[in-house]
Amino acid sequence: MRVILGIETSCDETAAAAVLDGRQALSSIIASQIAFHRAYGGVVPEIASRQHLDAIAEVAERAVAALPGGFRGVDAVAVTYGPGLVGALLVGLSYAKALALTLGVPLIGVHHIEGHVFSTAFEYGDWAYPALALIVSGGHTDLFRIAAPFAYERLGHTRDDAAGEAYDKTARRLGLGYPGGPILDRLAQTGQADRAPLTYRAPLIPDAPYDFSFSGLKTAALRYIREREVKPLPEGLSRDEALAQASEDIRDLAASFQQAVVGTLIGVLERAIEACCPRLVVTGGGVACNSALRQALAALSRRKGVEIRIPHPTYATDNAAMIAAAGYARLARGERHDWSLEPAPSLRLGDSPAHR
Ligand code: KG4
Ligand code: ZN
Repeated sequence: MRVILGIETSCDETAAAAVLDGRQALSSIIASQIAFHRAYGGVVPEIASRQHLDAIAEVAERAVAALPGGFRGVDAVAVTYGPGLVGALLVGLSYAKALALTLGVPLIGVHHIEGHVFSTAFEYGDWAYPALALIVSGGHTDLFRIAAPFAYERLGHTRDDAAGEAYDKTARRLGLGYPGGPILDRLAQTGQADRAPLTYRAPLIPDAPYDFSFSGLKTAALRYIREREVKPLPEGLSRDEALAQASEDIRDLAASFQQAVVGTLIGVLERAIEACCPRLVVTGGGVACNSALRQALAALSRRKGVEIRIPHPTYATDNAAMIAAAGYARLARGERHDWSLEPAPSLRLGDSPAHR
């Protein structure tokens, strides 16, 4: 079992990748649907399913073009089967089943978040345990303790908005388009956080020291926009135009918002490092692209003397190479799924017997 074809269609990216031995990405093709969703300010499930249907065959063909035998060079198919949008998951899962059946190779369903946990596999070596994993994306903000391979214990999660979701909603109000994280990150680098103080109190969550909450911060940012009469940018600007035309107020707010998000994430992770004494910390998810978070993680690693792995940005956001890497590890311990595998839109890591 050497070459795994990964398939990922859980949200708004149609992705396929061929990965050798779980470590080397031979190809990683991503067809982004962002342009189709932008006008609505977020992902529209029906549009996502239709776009996946249109794109999946070509994306998979491009992924196997890197293999000498094309599809015949695939030893197994790994596919995201949850969590995510049910219609979107169904497209990838149906395609993966049909392909695995035709090729006569094993099928393995992968938990999307476990995929993110494996997103540093292409740049780093073996794991050390116990490990912590901080996964921060548009749909999830989760912290896991991993005592041994595949033994996930969810220490904490967001009680309301995911960190990326808070970015997206704040950016939308400022007329910055979707997704909001990358552009707010760029604007934050040119703003001054102390000129835009945000008043909010992180909720006290008894007995849940590793939980996150971002909706209070998001509301504080929206209140700031209203009270200070921060003018949003006009609709329909390109990213470069928005970057050039954003006011000082918007830049300062972006800096202040970013400082608060990063502060929250680092605060919880630091507490978990002190309590769990991990030998390794891995991170993943779209928000792991954030420049301030990456710097703060590097500083935390030095301060605590623990290795913190951060994926390359192409593997931090949704992709299929991470799904293939996780699938490879599962197959290597003898797991596989049969043709009855169904999409599991609200699957939690640790919920299913296959994912303990
Ligand atoms: O992992 P991902 O591609 O999809 C999900 O599984 O949700 O993450 C997408 C999220 C979006 O909310 C996007 O705004 C955020 O990641 N994001 C960022 C940055 N790049 C992407 N957030 C903050 N700073 C960034 N540089
Ligand atoms: Zn994701």
